[in-house]
Amino acid sequence: NETIRSLAEDHSLLFGTAIRYQPFSEDPEYLSLIKNEYNAVTIENELKMEIMMPEEGVYDFKQADEMIQFATENELSIRGHTLVWERVPWWLENGNYSNEEITSLLKQYVQTTVERYKGKLYAWDVVNEAFDAEGNLKDNFWLRHIGPDYIALAFQWAREADPDVLLFYNDYENDVWSPKTDATLTYLTSLRERGVPIDGIGLQMHLDLANDFDPEELQDVMNMIGHAGFLVHITELDIKLQHSGEDIETKRKKQADRYADIMGVCLENVRCDTYTVWGAADPYSWIRFTDEASAEQADPLLFDHELKRKPAYHMIKEVM
Ligand code: XIL
Repeated sequence: NETIRSLAEDHSLLFGTAIRYQPFSEDPEYLSLIKNEYNAVTIENELKMEIMMPEEGVYDFKQADEMIQFATENELSIRGHTLVWERVPWWLENGNYSNEEITSLLKQYVQTTVERYKGKLYAWDVVNEAFDAEGNLKDNFWLRHIGPDYIALAFQWAREADPDVLLFYNDYENDVWSPKTDATLTYLTSLRERGVPIDGIGLQMHLDLANDFDPEELQDVMNMIGHAGFLVHITELDIKLQHSGEDIETKRKKQADRYADIMGVCLENVRCDTYTVWGAADPYSWIRFTDEASAEQADPLLFDHELKRKPAYHMIKEVM
């Protein structure tokens, strides 16, 4: 009864899951599942500024510390997520701060956080979701107050605080060709040429069976990212079932094929050494918590509501 985890180790692959604090502290079966089935974790929310800095100047490391300790004790590689994102704590969004104050607050935040976990993480998602669908920088809090330099600065500050951890730019819809993918790659390449320390690009990949998927296109995009000199990690994979007349077995079979196709592409690409699903099992998928409308689609992961392996799990093993 071989696990994907053990097969992943044969391929030097990180097979990761996002983990959440609430089941983490309440559900021992959830913990065993994570230890037995995965060899890497991403801290899903607990390192985000909203949780880490509930008030100005006040850090709350409790949840993140516990999760990181659990992962360390169980020899799970850890990904930090995420230092700079459009979501900022309410006190900051609504506060009356000058641009200089906001710049130094972000600098202090990035450096304090990265330094605290120095040596414990394999990667940080430094900047998350900075571009819009047309490939322009999104009009977010950081762009408004710091200007476009916030991206380069965040990477530089993170590198100063930890010289060894891999630093990633992370986003959705960069797994297909689009103006956004083009612009992102061009922009990050030019930052790199200026000496900004960016090691890789994270592909979120929150997919839906209702949309087409072409493994060759994913392969092309990954190659292109690789040729530009970046690592490419799959950082947040999940696959929603579509609403349709089909029975659940048929849908789960399609879901399984897609998971396996993506694993196949990742294994073929030397720069893809991380395949992370966004949640350890269906009851804890973010889609359950955030997307009411699609509750019936909400079994996007590899383990079902009884924490049993789904067809997708078995299908991934076939390609490994
Ligand atoms: C999501 C979490 O999964 C939810 O629990 C939370 O309520 C909101 O954030 N892209 C990202 C992740 O980069 O940080 C998001 O995580 C999902 C989309």
